[in-house]
Amino acid sequence: MSCLPTVLTEPDFYAKTHSTLGDMHRGIEGRVRKSGLVLVQMNNIKLALTKGGGLWETAYEESGMNVLVFASRKGGSGKSTLAAHLASYIANPSRKTLLIDNDPQGSLSLWHKIRDQEHLGLRHNVRNLGDALRDAKRDGYEWVLIDTPPNKSPIVAEAIKHATLVIIPARASLFDIAALQDTVAFAREMRKPYAAVINAAPAKHGDKEDPVVADARGALNALQVPVWAGQITHRPELTLSLATGEGAGEYKPNSQGAEEIGRLWTALERSLNAIHNTYKKAGGSSRAA
Ligand SMILES: Nc1ncnc2c1ncn2[C@@H]1O[C@H](COP(=O)(O)OP(=O)(O)OP(=O)(O)O)[C@@H](O)[C@H]1O
Ligand SMILES: [Mg+2]
Repeated sequence: MSCLPTVLTEPDFYAKTHSTLGDMHRGIEGRVRKSGLVLVQMNNIKLALTKGGGLWETAYEESGMNVLVFASRKGGSGKSTLAAHLASYIANPSRKTLLIDNDPQGSLSLWHKIRDQEHLGLRHNVRNLGDALRDAKRDGYEWVLIDTPPNKSPIVAEAIKHATLVIIPARASLFDIAALQDTVAFAREMRKPYAAVINAAPAKHGDKEDPVVADARGALNALQVPVWAGQITHRPELTLSLATGEGAGEYKPNSQGAEEIGRLWTALERSLNAIHNTYKKAGGSSRAA
């Protein structure tokens, strides 16, 4: 596929575990491939294109608007936390960002209410996501982040259906990895690019990941689940900031938590660019499908 050489040059998305575990990571075409976030996403897209999946159903997908969906059946994995920190990290006057809180628990709505900042829009319990996203596009939103409940409900399925990228936060635990597979199955079924993000992890020891994290990464690799090469560590600023309606960078600039959120953002942004480029390159044939 023409996009692969470019993708392979993007180190952020290249899982560092590829030397051993990566050998287990087979691509959809059956070739042995090294593991990497974008690489697997590209395979998903390619599969969708070859099977005639409706990738271009919606105007906002064509337009390049980014819809990030935070999903995991596992409660407490960090969906709302990551959505809030990333939203606060990216929202600014020249980058209109919308949060859609489709979890009836309303965590993000509460956070947004406390927050005193106008660059971040909020909608809660949206029934018709397709219409809401078209409105968002019309209103000039560039980024939409959707939080979902910890289950396998139609709310989650609908959000994934509209996703540009599904982000699946996972703690480094057996229970999280086990539960994540349902969400992965949803994303695969709907032929959507997805990636796990290891969250609330024990801190690194210098450059070295904690064995618990390395183990979780190994399990994700074995399951062929693309996973971000970095981690979001369990840090007080990532919790305390939410109570004041802030993100980590607003609450404690230059904190390690803020830096990690920034790194995750960079990885996501590059990944989304790669996804959009792939769609663009494949545009004619997918539209006809
Ligand atoms: N990286 C982190 N560091 C510190 N605390 C964290 C981190 N990630 C999540 N938490 C805390 O863990 C708890 C659960 O996180 P969160 O509410 O984001 O999970 P969730 O997946 O949205 O849960 P639910 O499925 O119930 O909606 C919260 O109290 C949050 O503050
Ligand atoms: Mg939540």
